[in-house]
Amino acid sequence: MSRSAWLISDPQFEADDLRPQMAVDPWSGHRNFGYDLVRFVRPRRMVELGAHWGVSFFAFCQAVKDAQLTTELVAVDTWQGDDHTGPYGDEVFTFFQNVVREKYAGLEIRLLRMLFCEARDSVADGSVDILHIDGCHNYEAVSEDFRAWVDKVREDGIVLLHDVAETSGYGTTRFWHEVRVQYPSFAFPHSWGLGVLFPKGERHYQALRENNLADRIELYRLKADLQLANIMLADTTRTAVQRYDCMERQSAMIKERDDANQRLEAMIRARDEANAAQTHMINARDETIAAQLRLIDERDTALASQRRLIDGRNETIAAQQRLIDDRDELVARQDGLIADRDKALAAQQKLIDERDVLIAEQDQLVAAHDAALAAQKKLIDERDELIAKQNVLVAARDEALAAQQKLIDERDALIAKQGDLVAERDTMITEQARLIATRVRRIEELEDQARAQESRRAALEQQLAAQANTIRQLSAELHELQGNLLRPGYCLRMTGRSLLRPLGRRS
Ligand SMILES: C[S@@+](CC[C@H](N)C(=O)[O-])C[C@H]1O[C@@H](n2cnc3c(N)ncnc32)[C@H](O)[C@@H]1O
Repeated sequence: MSRSAWLISDPQFEADDLRPQMAVDPWSGHRNFGYDLVRFVRPRRMVELGAHWGVSFFAFCQAVKDAQLTTELVAVDTWQGDDHTGPYGDEVFTFFQNVVREKYAGLEIRLLRMLFCEARDSVADGSVDILHIDGCHNYEAVSEDFRAWVDKVREDGIVLLHDVAETSGYGTTRFWHEVRVQYPSFAFPHSWGLGVLFPKGERHYQALRENNLADRIELYRLKADLQLANIMLADTTRTAVQRYDCMERQSAMIKERDDANQRLEAMIRARDEANAAQTHMINARDETIAAQLRLIDERDTALASQRRLIDGRNETIAAQQRLIDDRDELVARQDGLIADRDKALAAQQKLIDERDVLIAEQDQLVAAHDAALAAQKKLIDERDELIAKQNVLVAARDEALAAQQKLIDERDALIAKQGDLVAERDTMITEQARLIATRVRRIEELEDQARAQESRRAALEQQLAAQANTIRQLSAELHELQGNLLRPGYCLRMTGRSLLRPLGRRS
């Protein structure tokens, strides 16, 4: 903590954006003091016991945010209510979280949703610079809360207690009377009273005294009254404007109603006149009705006699009705038959329609065939013309043919003659062939003879050759022999083929 001058600010409490009723809450009259106190003390840690909608807590948060302090802000509450607030639902805690998220997200805030006694272990002893006790306001509760949490307060720390004013009617007032004489303290009387206690040293108390404490108390009370008056004035002005608008709308409505009333009165007068005229007419009608009643009596008599006639007629009608019923049955049966016929007719009509479609298709085909026939007829005519022309040609050809036939006949006669000649020739050829065959056979015989003679000749030639050879050998041997005979020591000897052979040679 550091000592600084006390400044009186004019803050904007941003939580009011999300819940404007915060500005008229029981605690709202102390928000300016709470805001300036935080900026003056510059606490490292603040704890609030009893946070509910957060009117006081978010005033402290606003100061921390605007002064850019690093204060840790701890809110302890079950957020379920107590004997004085009454029980409430989760929507309060949800709102509280939303305000933290949307307006004070950058601050170091801890929300301990639990009983005050359960939260004690979450906060170190002697670490709290400002402790705000605003839980249940009966004497036992507030004295217990103070007793249980005063050790958490740091040296020179401050304790704030709400609802200490005599007018509050709570047990907090009694507790405040007890405790305020034990420690340096002062209290604001407005907004159900806020007690400011200095149980761990009077440093801040002295500082405040030096800053004209009594004036400050009065100033904050006036400021609260002024703000409340401003709010009430704004409310009253808004209400007055709304009332004025409302009155203007109502004047306009009254005028509309007056106009409507005048129109209605005119209508009523017109109706009254119409009623008088109608009454007159009704009287006239009554007279007419009386006369008609007399007529009716006469008519009744006539009716009675007619009734008898009618009864007779009714019997006739009943008999006729029976006949009609019989007829109706017949008609019903005939209706059935007619319905069957209608169905048959419908079926036939369908068939006829289908046939019509077929006939239409066939008509198309016939037309197509007619067209084809016409085309063929044209072709046939063209062919007929061609045939006529060809007939002329054929006649010419026939003539040529006849001439040729004549030539052919002549040729045939010639050929017949030639055939005779050929037959003669054939006979001759046959004869010649026979002769030739005879000749061939003869030639073959001759050739056989020639070959036999040739064989004999060859054999004879061989014999002759052999004899010639033998002769040549004999000649040679003869020459040799003649030579040997002329030489000494040589003798004649006959051996084999050779008659002469040299002596002493063996073969
Ligand atoms: C008067 S309101 C607090 C108002 C708050 N300071 C404000 O300015 O909006 C009291 C709150 O204390 C809570 N409370 C009371 N006794 C409590 C306890 N023993 N433990 C936790 N919360 C408690 C209640 O739930 C209630 O929300």
